[in-house]
Formats: sequence, structure tokens, C-alpha cells
Amino acid sequence: MIQKYNVAGPRYTSYPTVPYWNEAIFTVDDYKKSLKRSFQESNSSEGISLYIHLPFCESLCTFCGCNKRITKRHEVESPYIAALLEEWDLYVGLLGEKPMIREIHLGGGTPTFFSPENLRKLINGLFKNATRAEEFDFSLEGHPNNTKKDHLQVLNELGFTRVSYGVQDYNPVVQQAIHRFQPFLNVKNATENAREIGYNSVGHDIIFGLPFQTVDHVRSTIEKTKELMPDRIAFYSYAHVPWIKGNGQRGYKDEDLPTAGVKREMYETGKRLLKEAGYIEIGMDHFALKSDSLYKAVEKGKLHRNFMGYTTSKTKVMVGLGVSSISDSWTGFAQNVKKLEDYYALLEQGEIPLYRGHILTSEDEVIRQHILNLMCRLKTDWCNKSHYFSEIPDVLIKLKEMEADGLVIIEKDSLQITEKGRPFVRNVCMAFDMLLQRSKPETRLFSMTI
Ligand SMILES: C[S@@+](CC[C@H](N)C(=O)[O-])C[C@H]1O[C@@H](n2cnc3c(N)ncnc32)[C@H](O)[C@@H]1O
Ligand code: SF4
Repeated sequence: MIQKYNVAGPRYTSYPTVPYWNEAIFTVDDYKKSLKRSFQESNSSEGISLYIHLPFCESLCTFCGCNKRITKRHEVESPYIAALLEEWDLYVGLLGEKPMIREIHLGGGTPTFFSPENLRKLINGLFKNATRAEEFDFSLEGHPNNTKKDHLQVLNELGFTRVSYGVQDYNPVVQQAIHRFQPFLNVKNATENAREIGYNSVGHDIIFGLPFQTVDHVRSTIEKTKELMPDRIAFYSYAHVPWIKGNGQRGYKDEDLPTAGVKREMYETGKRLLKEAGYIEIGMDHFALKSDSLYKAVEKGKLHRNFMGYTTSKTKVMVGLGVSSISDSWTGFAQNVKKLEDYYALLEQGEIPLYRGHILTSEDEVIRQHILNLMCRLKTDWCNKSHYFSEIPDVLIKLKEMEADGLVIIEKDSLQITEKGRPFVRNVCMAFDMLLQRSKPETRLFSMTI
């Protein structure tokens, strides 16, 4: 089954997925109109989310697929913060009314590369032109090697209550191969500091499928993780995408990576250990304790997925600030330029630094809902006529084999992924992904599903 279903496929943090955006007909003006419309419909009731990309890291981890710039020169901080605030001002000008911020996520790169004072300037700068929703959720990604008490303290004073730390794997051989040297003590300190200061959710990111990693390494990484019992665990499958420009996945060979069969065993072992420790599997890649807000969102049927991954609430509008960030107006997507130099140049001309995007068609909207249902609730239905699209019968034919393998249950107007089928959720989504079905990519775009 692993061999049968291990194909290249998207992780569905959006639908349509980025390679299928219709860039030929996209215009920034159309996107701005869609953003304004959604903003007017939702700002006073639900508010907006902000994703802020902070791209700098001091040292390159060779497995990393994120958009980052490696430097030890901290002089880069101030101009970048100033640029982010200029970009924010352009959005506020466009929207014409003070946004009410419900969610902020600081992602990277490494947000904690920045000094606590610069992060304070950033957040205070945003709120010069915005209000805070009554219920809000502010979070950051921290590197355990450089997240100091001061970072956590300052951000907590500004409303941040969730932090996730990159752990990946504790084994020295794996750490050497991925060029990431990170002792357990650093993760322990960063985790305990966050808890002492008052963060109510501390997450750890663990990856399986890294170069030279074995099932035993995954087991002992999880055993160590259990000593700290983070509230959430992202248990990611390593995405090997060395063909993407600018990512450093060249420090090892394809043969150094575990095979799909071993990778599956790593996942099964990790999942068993995490379940034994009291974690509940949520959607794809994520585990949480019952006390964590992510689990509570599942209970309330409120789990949502967007470019930030799984989130506990949905806002129609998500503004992305910083290089490579993606904004989502619910009826459209738009991405910022990826290179710092281009980002600064466009801002200098007074332009929101977007360079590509997609406006959703009515078919896209229907399929997006199915994909969200599958990714967040492992089931979907077309009982309501408006959820039906003409290719549904073809989708079901495609899924017959998965049904025979016990991975999905197909009913007259609905479909459910079984517990056994959970690891194959991306494959089920692919059957619904009409853009992918109609034109299979000629070149490799996506990582393998397993
Ligand atoms: C921006 S990083 C986290 C913050 C900080 N820079 C750090 O490294 O600790 C976000 C997470 O993405 C995950 N990640 C990055 N590249 C990946 C890849 N190629 N495959 C799977 N997960 C990846 C890692 O688990 C990483 O912790
Ligand atoms: S994993 Fe984190 S620290 Fe390492 S290069 Fe990627 S973003 Fe930077």
C-alpha cells in the first residue's frame, strides 16, 4: 500500500495549490478588490489574521524548505521591521478602516533572530493602526538555540501565548547531516521559560524521514520529548524538494534518506508512542494534548487550515506581511516577492510587494470546501446541492481502489476517511483536486505523500 500510494502530492495549505494558480489572468487590482470586499464583510465581526514572515537565520539547516536568508549581521533587523510597518500602512490605507486583529503568527526563518526590542517595535507599530479583537491568538516560531527569556517576556506582555520550537531530531548523527546542533538542554530551557512566563501552548516540531535517521532515532527523540510534554507536536514528514531554488537540501544524497517503507514505520512508531503518552492525532501531521486549544477546536468542529497550517479559528481575511508571505482574501490569494531586494524596491515605490496570485472560481470554492473538510474533519459530503460538482462520480471511481483497501468509506452523498486511511489523506484530497487531475505537472513540484 505504501508503494501504491506514495506519489508526489500537495500538502493542501490552500486550494488551489500554488502551482495551479491562474497567474495569466491574475491582477493585483482584482486581488485588492476581493480583499476590500471580504474585509468590509468581516472586519467588525471576526477581524483579520496576520502572518508575518521574518526570514533571517544565523545558520543554515540543510533540510529546511522555508524561505530564509542566512546572516549573522543583526543590522538587517531595523530596516526589515521598518519595511514591514510600511507594508502594513499600505494595507491599512487600502482597507480604509482600522483592522481588528484576531490572530498574529510570527513565522520564518527565525522570528527570535530579532531582538526583543525590535519585535516590540513591530507589534506596537502594527497596533498604531489597528485594534485587538476581544478573543485573540498570537503565536510565534522560536528557535530553541536563540529564544531568550526576554523574547518570551516581551512578546507575552504584547499578548503572545503560543510558541512552537523546531526540534527535528536529537540524534547527533542526524543533527550533523542537517547542520543543526541543538542540545536537549536548550529545548528544555526554552520550553520551561515559556511555561513560567505564562504561555499556555508550547509546541515542538519533530521531523521523520531526515538523512541518516532511523526508527530508533525517532523513538528516542519522542522519548526525550515526553520528558517535557509539549502541548502540541507537529510530527512532519520530511519534504524533500531539492529542485526548489534557494533551499539548501543538497548537503546529503537521496540515498542517505530513509526509504518510503522505513518512513512509514517511523510515522507508525511515533504515532503509537505519542498516543500512549496522551496525545490525540489532529488532521495531518499534528498531535495535541486534550488541554490544548487545537484539540478543543477539533471538539467544537472549528479546526481550520490555511497557509499557517492548522488554526483554531477562521477569519475571512489573512494578510501576509514580509518576503514570500501569502495573503488570503477568501476569494483570492496573492503572494509577496521572495527576494529581500525586490521587496524593498517595491515598497520604496509605495507598492504592496505582491507578484502573483489567484482569484477563485466558483468551482474552486466548492472544491476548496471539500478539501478543507477532508483535511480538518476527515470526511466530506455533497448532500447539499451547492456542494456537488459534475465530476463527483469520477472522483468516486478514482477512490474505489482506496475503498477496497479500507482507506475510505463511500456512501451515496458522502465520504469518510477511515483510521487506517488517515496517513493517506493527501491522496484522497488529490482525487478531488480537479486542477491537478486535469493537468498533471510535467516537472516535479510536490514532495512525496509518504
Ligand atoms: C521556520 S521553522 C521553525 C522556527 C525556527 N526557524 C527553527 O528552526 O527552530 C518551521 C518548521 O518547519 C519545518 N520544516 C522546515 N523544512 C522542512 C522540510 N523540508 N520538511 C518538513 N518540515 C520542514 C521544521 O520542523 C521547522 O521547525
Ligand atoms: S529550520 Fe529554522 S533555523 Fe533552520 S534554516 Fe530553516 S528556518 Fe532557519
